[in-house]
Amino acid sequence: MMNHFLNLSDAGGNVLAAMLNDAMDRKAARKGLPKGLADADAPLAGHVLAMIFEKNSTRTRTSFEMAIRQLGGQPMMMTSDQMQLGRGETIEDTAQVLSRFVDAIMIRTDDHAKIEALAANASVPVINGLTDQSHPCQILADLLTILESGKALPGLQIAYLGDGNNVTSSIIEAAGLLKFNVAIASPEGYDPDPAFVAQARERGARIDIMRDAMAAAKGADVIITDTWVSMGQAHADEKIAAMMPFQVNDAVMAAAKDDAIFLHCLPAHREEEVTASVIDGPQSRIWDEAENRLHAQKSVLLWALGKL
Ligand code: CP
Ligand code: NVA
Repeated sequence: MMNHFLNLSDAGGNVLAAMLNDAMDRKAARKGLPKGLADADAPLAGHVLAMIFEKNSTRTRTSFEMAIRQLGGQPMMMTSDQMQLGRGETIEDTAQVLSRFVDAIMIRTDDHAKIEALAANASVPVINGLTDQSHPCQILADLLTILESGKALPGLQIAYLGDGNNVTSSIIEAAGLLKFNVAIASPEGYDPDPAFVAQARERGARIDIMRDAMAAAKGADVIITDTWVSMGQAHADEKIAAMMPFQVNDAVMAAAKDDAIFLHCLPAHREEEVTASVIDGPQSRIWDEAENRLHAQKSVLLWALGKL
């Protein structure tokens, strides 16, 4: 069976834990090396990763490109507007063709059904670099950042404030797999995907959906938010207004534990979903979080290619 990574459940809790351990070891082992130099064991030497972008990216693009390079392999960067995919060639045919040239495919796209069709028709592993449904690689990097802050995952309390979106779904999915709890505070009409909530609850995680930011933040170990307007969504003044009571600000951080950390996948909009005082303040770990995309994804690539 192919090791596709479309959602965190494709790997499961034990594999995710192994990925996090491997990421920490690899990160420590290459400390001080120039960024463009491969890891000493270069475990993916000779392997090529195609990266298809149907949406913009800074972190996902650079971290995957550096990840495959540091593992000894090579990236192949593609954007759908420069491919026949952009003028109507099917995702199924694209999957067949790319599988003849490369060893793995990472894609950022809109409709999650597209990545499922890509995976169903590819004979190489497919990795989700964000869809409208989920953003599993981001959450793996978040978990690595949480572990580095000295917190353990079982029993952890995360508060997510704002729009119930693709990032929220992957946080909820991780909670079910790794046994932590999430309190989500969002305005009515912007709740997280109920299928992810139900699945995590079945797996034993406590997932609270609230309408009060302070109540969700109370006693939290980690506070997370994301943009109120995701890629592909229209900017709507009424949505921004509805989200305003769910902004992460100093009062929200004060309700969390004293040693709570703040995470944001970025890009951020200061004074919308988070104040500058928080995102640029002492509890923020956003730059480690961004860097950890690289380290976490190296482990995803190794697992996808049967090397973890
Ligand atoms: N967090 C994240 O996925 O960033 P990019 O959109 O820059 O890739
Ligand atoms: N929810 C955001 C995440 C960006 C990395 C989006 O989909 O645009």
